[in-house]
Amino acid sequence: MELNPDQLSAAVLYQHLIRTILPRPIAWVSTISPTGTTNLAPFSFFTGVGSRPPSLAFCPSNRRDGSFKDTLANILATRQFVICVVPFASVEAMNLSSAEVSPEDSEFLLANVDAEPSATVRPPRVKLSPVAFECELLQHIALESGPGAANLVLGRILHLHISESVLGSDGFADPQLLDLIGRMGGSTYCRTQDRFDLPRPEFPR
Ligand SMILES: Cc1cc2nc3c(=O)[nH]c(=O)nc-3n(C[C@H](O)[C@H](O)[C@H](O)COP(=O)(O)O)c2cc1C
Repeated sequence: MELNPDQLSAAVLYQHLIRTILPRPIAWVSTISPTGTTNLAPFSFFTGVGSRPPSLAFCPSNRRDGSFKDTLANILATRQFVICVVPFASVEAMNLSSAEVSPEDSEFLLANVDAEPSATVRPPRVKLSPVAFECELLQHIALESGPGAANLVLGRILHLHISESVLGSDGFADPQLLDLIGRMGGSTYCRTQDRFDLPRPEFPR
């Protein structure tokens, strides 16, 4: 099958993207509104960008009515957010926190997620999440405007929280102890338990 994105509806193209870019890590993004309401939502168009500057990116699309999702509106207003990773133990809460609720209602309460104060920013982190990246907004790029339009949010990592409980003997997070989930297409998820090692080849210079 050969596809020209310009000849597909946005909805069909979206399905092709989420069923082929696999597995996707999930950014569980915590923000706070200017009036102090906490907000929590998952985003799987998410990746690290680099270590200089320490940076990551995720992509909240616009709602069907063309408005920004609460996460993006809060980030544009406050320039702060926290990205938490999602362990298998938190799948149900993560899913619940994707509900579209009014900006006055906190998904922390809705999904019964315990919050822990962050070290450098106002939005709290998820207590049960073993890794949290506290960020300030580097750049927001609206790729288009209107319903479903894509936004790129680039964040500078100000502080990393890594729970002692997931550290391996080398001082870095151990994937087995992290036990994170990834998103596949539709409502399918995977766990990071199926792994193999592949040392990099040595090329003669
Ligand atoms: C696993 C998962 C991944 C998601 N990834 C994205 C994403 O990458 N971009 C997006 O716009 N919405 C994504 N969503 C939907 C948002 O979580 C949902 O629209 C949420 O209500 C946004 O909340 P907010 O308005 O509080 O920001 C995802 C939902 C789930 C369950």
